[in-house]
Amino acid sequence: MSDYEVFIGICERINCPRSYVNLVLSELSNLGVAEVLNDGDTEFMGFRLLGKGQNSLVFKCRVDNGYYACKIRRFDSSRPDLVGEGNYLRLANSVGVGPRLISYTSDVLIMELVSGIPIQRYVVTANPTELRVVLRDLLCNAVSWTP
Ligand SMILES: Nc1ncnc2c1ncn2[C@@H]1O[C@H](COP(=O)(O)OP(=O)(O)OP(=O)(O)O)[C@@H](O)[C@H]1O
Ligand SMILES: [Mg+2]
Repeated sequence: MSDYEVFIGICERINCPRSYVNLVLSELSNLGVAEVLNDGDTEFMGFRLLGKGQNSLVFKCRVDNGYYACKIRRFDSSRPDLVGEGNYLRLANSVGVGPRLISYTSDVLIMELVSGIPIQRYVVTANPTELRVVLRDLLCNAVSWTP
């Protein structure tokens, strides 16, 4: 089984063009991704991943001995590449916002793995006192930054 079998397997099931698959495989290799893991809260085409959006599939991956999130642009995405996202994430990181950017190419972006439950689930399950503290902290940190 290839180190990238989870990505390859999904691509086979949804009939991605071969040229797209080969391009992404070379980018994963260039970025030093050692393994794409079959892991995460989302199930898609018989595989597990961290998330699936309109523009990408997000996998847990291993680079050296560390685990990261690997966002791969979908072949049917309306966005031509992930370069703008990489630039904006770097800008956000410079003021302490967002998962830490590791590296990116045109179709693959590696960033810090965010763990925990999604905020939309958290807000309906959290204890109200704790929720007030967390929301106040988020809002205060967001407005304390001036360009
Ligand atoms: N750094 C991360 N760590 C853990 N999970 C992540 C991370 N980034 C994304 N995810 C998961 O993947 C899902 C999809 O990610 P995202 O919203 O970035 O992709 P998209 O919807 O395809 O693209 P975009 O929102 O940029 O159009 C998220 O909702 C989240 O569940
Ligand atoms: Mg999204």
